Order: sequence, then C-alpha cells, then structure tokens
Amino acid sequence: MARKKIIAGNWKMNMTPSEAVELVNTLKPLVVTEEADVVFCVPSIDIIPAMEAAKGTNIQIGAENMYYEEKGAFTGEISPNMLTDVGVKYVIIGHSERREYFAETDETVNKKVLKAFEHGITPIICCGESLTQREQGITIDWIRQQIKIAFLNVTAEQAATAVIAYEPIWAIGTGKTATTEQAQEVCKAIRECIAEIYDEATAEAIRIQYGGSVNAATAPELFGQPDIDGGLVGGASLKPDFGKIVNYK
Ligand code: PGA
Repeated sequence: MARKKIIAGNWKMNMTPSEAVELVNTLKPLVVTEEADVVFCVPSIDIIPAMEAAKGTNIQIGAENMYYEEKGAFTGEISPNMLTDVGVKYVIIGHSERREYFAETDETVNKKVLKAFEHGITPIICCGESLTQREQGITIDWIRQQIKIAFLNVTAEQAATAVIAYEPIWAIGTGKTATTEQAQEVCKAIRECIAEIYDEATAEAIRIQYGGSVNAATAPELFGQPDIDGGLVGGASLKPDFGKIVNYK
C-alpha cells in the first residue's frame, strides 16, 4: 500500500492566538488536497483557536511538544490528556530546538513517544545530525542511535503509525536545504533501521518526513524521493507559500 504523504507546519514560537486564527483563515483555501495529510503544529495557547478556525477543513491541528507525565507538579508543561481533550492527534517530539534549549535527550524523547502512543496521539519524532557530525561522516550512525532509543519498547503496531522527521540541524532555519540525495540517503537509512528493529512491513508503513529550509522550490524534488513521505516545515509554514508546498506536484 502506498504511504500517504504528511506535510506538517511547525510554527515554533510564532503567532499569538488572534494571529493564529488569521493565518489559518489565510491558508485554509491554499492547503486543500486529498493527497497528503496536512497538519499545523502550533503553540499550545493557539491550539484551541486554531482548531476552531480549521473546523470543516482538511487541516489538522497538532502540538509542538508534550510532557510524559499525566498530571501534577510540572509547572509550565502540557499533558497528553490536555491535548486529547481538545482533539489533538499529532505532537512533535524531540525537535532539535527542544534538545538544544530545553535539555531534551533521546531518553526523554522515548518517554514522550511512549506516552503519546498510550494516549492515541501520533508522534512526529525528530532526529538529525549537526554539521560537525556530518563532516565527520557519522550522520547515519548518529541517526540510527537516535531512532533506536526513541523506539525503545514501542510495539511494531505503534511504530507503523509513527511519523519520523529527519531534520539535519545545519539545515534548520538556515536556508541551506540538504540536497535531495542527502535527504533521501538518510531517510532510506532510517527506514532500514526500522526494518531491523521491527520488520519490513513496519518499515514500509512508517512515514518519514524531511525538514530543514523546505520551500516551494525544493519541495517537489524532495517529496518525490522514494523514502521521503512529506515534510516538516518551519519558516515557510507561516506564509502562503505553504499552500504551494502542500500542493507540490
Ligand atoms: P525550517 O524549520 O523549515 O524553518 O528550516 C524546520 C523545522 O525546524 O521543523
């Protein structure tokens, strides 16, 4: 069975609630498609207004982060129940910015991934190498380690529904997109790693996105690769260009 593409916006720390409504209203006629799942991952405070604005469209609203405990004394965090209560079905886990600025590790990523599955939320699990790692030729080893830890104790059935976002750190927000060959090579290696951990069927089912300076010009070739099932898009997801990325064909 062919995998359905998934194209997700990552708004990061942008858009107030009223701006979020405006942006959803601007983008909704532009992102209509039946060929891909379209997800806007937005700041927590924007989730409810964005959902209201997206009602009746093909846009699904996701979260950018989630904690791995159910509730309690974790000031400032957001729990899986809070997300499912309002109908959130996707959450970005382990974005490189969360790893860099908020001390997330492969282990906390794994805890969050397990918790998301427990609550029926699809995790968009981020991985990616730094420029130094790429230059040292250890990209694939590094990514395999991130994937193996992220999927610890995740069942094959759960893994088959997961989304992985391969985002080379040096390509995020820099305007330097990985070449199509670089992106395809790593996404293929990720799929092989999933096949090793689980089996071929799981590897064939899992969806793998590329992220890092994706724009309307680079999307068609990237998303046309056999192992790239869409993208995680930062900067360009805040602009009408996102419509062109979604309708990249
Ligand atoms: P970018 O961000 O498209 O602005 O590079 C991608 C991401 O961080 O998810």
